[in-house]
Amino acid sequence: MTACTPRILVINGPNLNLLGSREPDVYGTATLDDVVNLASDAAHAHGCTTTAMQSNHEGELIDAIHAARTSADGIVINAGALTHTSIAIRDALAGVDLPVVEVHISNVHRREEFRHHSFISAVADTVIVGAGVDGYRLAVDHLARQLRSAAAQEEPATEK
Ligand code: DQA
Repeated sequence: MTACTPRILVINGPNLNLLGSREPDVYGTATLDDVVNLASDAAHAHGCTTTAMQSNHEGELIDAIHAARTSADGIVINAGALTHTSIAIRDALAGVDLPVVEVHISNVHRREEFRHHSFISAVADTVIVGAGVDGYRLAVDHLARQLRSAAAQEEPATEK
């Protein structure tokens, strides 16, 4: 067993609190609570834990990313529309040196042109788009596997 339990911070940005009722034809009918639960279940399957936060305010998202330096081992983030505008969130993610998985529920590349560019993708290790809310499960599953395997490599070799 590894001594540590990898901790994953799941961040959701503006308007994602409205999941379930917001443009269901684009984002589906699952709520933010459903997303938080499916992320948590995916993490537990690997012996990892999740903490989830959502904010409609850029500064709060940046503060949460900074706090993750000491409280998390990896980040899953759907920054909503701030994905396409926020150099500050990009810099925060670059500054904390944690593995990052970027998630978008919709396939942003099949939508309006202003959604095609992400400031976050260049600092993310992995990007998942267009898988619906299942993208969060895929993101957590992927990150948890990576964190577990990194933790296993750090374990002292056992005597045979
Ligand atoms: C989104 C895509 C963004 O363009 C949009 O502003 C969102 C949600 C997605 O999950 O598909 O708020 O990040």
